[in-house]
Amino acid sequence: MLMDNTTRAIHSPAVYLDDSHAESIAMTSAYDFHSAADAHARFSGEKPGNVYSRFTNPSVEMFENKLAALEGGDAAIGLASGMSAYLAIAMTFLRQGDHVLLASGIFGTTTHLFRQYFGQFGITATSVQVDDYDAWQAEMRPNTKLMVVESPTNPLMGVADLVKLSTLAKRHDAILVVDNTLLTPVLQQPLQWGADLVLHSAGKFLDGQGRCVGGAIVGRHDLLKPLRAYLRASGICMSPFNAWILSKGIETLKARMNLHEHNARQVFSWLRQQSDIEQVYSTMAADHPNRDVIQRQQTGHSPIITFKLRGDRDHAWRFIDALKLVSRCTNIGDAKTMVTHPATTTHGRYTAEEKQRHGITENLVRLCVGFESPADIIDDLNQALVAAQQPVETAVLVC
Ligand SMILES: Cc1ncc(COP(=O)(O)O)c(C=O)c1O
Repeated sequence: MLMDNTTRAIHSPAVYLDDSHAESIAMTSAYDFHSAADAHARFSGEKPGNVYSRFTNPSVEMFENKLAALEGGDAAIGLASGMSAYLAIAMTFLRQGDHVLLASGIFGTTTHLFRQYFGQFGITATSVQVDDYDAWQAEMRPNTKLMVVESPTNPLMGVADLVKLSTLAKRHDAILVVDNTLLTPVLQQPLQWGADLVLHSAGKFLDGQGRCVGGAIVGRHDLLKPLRAYLRASGICMSPFNAWILSKGIETLKARMNLHEHNARQVFSWLRQQSDIEQVYSTMAADHPNRDVIQRQQTGHSPIITFKLRGDRDHAWRFIDALKLVSRCTNIGDAKTMVTHPATTTHGRYTAEEKQRHGITENLVRLCVGFESPADIIDDLNQALVAAQQPVETAVLVC
């Protein structure tokens, strides 16, 4: 057939790198069908195979399989972000009039999503202290359909006994969702302790270098099936490129989590010795109130360390602004050490009363320890502590 140049350019031979050692990225929105009957069979679900990347894509599937293997789940679903994973769970499993029970002090936007947006549709969300099991029990209602917990919580490193919470969830026929972003499956596998679904903000430790945003849900087939149907209808999908980055991140996850912990231990010990620091929060603390649960449930520690400076918000901000090596960044799980002021960033949506109730004080600072030399991180923290003691220079007005 004689073809126009444009047609020939579009249909020129394709290059498929079957022998490249790194996996190729399935950067495609759609798939070729062998015949009309093949298209029909794949669309109807009679025959497995990709149809459209809004709901299946080989690179996303690669990420899903790797994460499901690590978490010990039947399967996983990759989504656009951690928040879209919460959205999918709520849209799939909640109905008007339902109640959601949240652990206190979880990521501020998670609480905001349930309170503000699902509140618009007659869903109520209340919070209880993460390790107060009498309060969890007392707050369970006949219409409680979802329990959402981060363990450890961010930033105060509160820990939940997941076995106790899953027993409660089962008794009330509620779904227990555990956000495992801070520990990753290398350090904790919530499904093993009875969680129904595990959620990830995948752009954190799974990525490992702050390159992309992504989310994931891991669990049993019976719960994932309606979630995937919701993904197909809503389109909150993960991009193949992000899925590829996250898959490569998972390959180095164990090594990275070990190095994070190794460095964080040194920073933690140093912080505990500083007289300018009132309190340090980490699951590494030998005097953590839930030490026994940590030892049973976790196989290591998150490099997130939160501390209270002796002083007020100005003091905390002066400390943060004086840091030279540590990045001022609200993300977690990067090679670079990062610092944030939770009261005015990640938990800024909490009301004053909620901040007080959940311990998000103005002098609280959160660190996520990265891969720089611990001595260099400590040097930087040290000089910033000294700088934060200096009174702010007041400008002298000369008329
Ligand atoms: C523990 C936790 N869960 C969920 C989220 C939301 O994830 P994403 O930012 O990917 O939407 C975050 C975000 O920082 C988080 O820290």
